[in-house]
Amino acid sequence: MKFEKIGRDNQKALASLFRSTFGASEGEGEGLLIGDLADQLGAAIDDLDVMAFGATQGEALIGAIFFTRLRFADDARVYMLAPVAVATAHQGAGLGQALIRFGLEVLAGQGATVAITYGDPAYYGRFGFAPLSEGVIRSPVALSMPHGWLGQSLNGQPIQPRRERPQCVEPFRNPALW
Ligand SMILES: CC(C)(COP(=O)(O)OP(=O)(O)OC[C@H]1O[C@@H](n2cnc3c(N)ncnc32)[C@H](O)[C@@H]1OP(=O)(O)O)[C@@H](O)C(=O)NCCC(=O)NCCS
Repeated sequence: MKFEKIGRDNQKALASLFRSTFGASEGEGEGLLIGDLADQLGAAIDDLDVMAFGATQGEALIGAIFFTRLRFADDARVYMLAPVAVATAHQGAGLGQALIRFGLEVLAGQGATVAITYGDPAYYGRFGFAPLSEGVIRSPVALSMPHGWLGQSLNGQPIQPRRERPQCVEPFRNPALW
């Protein structure tokens, strides 16, 4: 098993992993929606606004996560972790946790100051994410589940509150994802 930053050449494998994983756990419609998102994000990997980390076993991609930049008017290095998938047959073995910890470490090492995610607080609380008020950092698109808006500092400083609504990368500008 290997964890590494992965590039655009993994676009097809990423789309297929997210489509099948979310299809199995959330139903076909969600599989298609998130598979399409992963396809678009995979094509946009540039190591600045869009980053992906993968867990590979031999040639197979069995887990993957994306970090995408939330852009503010200044050059703040704020990234959103989403989506996350571990292939159905490999779930529950600690892979998701290890891959997320790996990605957060690399991100912090590159100078990112804040990581945000939108998901289950019980799961993401394991890696330091805590509920984030939109009074501190607003979501780029209106949230249907505000309690799932989570964040953590990556540089040991408190998260600096910002009034401005950040811009997410293009593939996330779909209200159905929020
Ligand atoms: C959620 C997911 C990424 C977790 O990856 P994983 O490798 O199976 O998880 P890990 O083995 O690292 O962690 C398993 C632990 O997290 C818990 N867990 C898994 N999914 C959870 C969830 N959605 N909410 C709360 N806890 C969860 C498990 O109960 C398990 O607990 P334990 O350690 O006490 O036994 C994976 O199951 C998955 O891809 N699911 C389908 C897609 C999805 O829901 N993605 C996340 C939303 S973007």
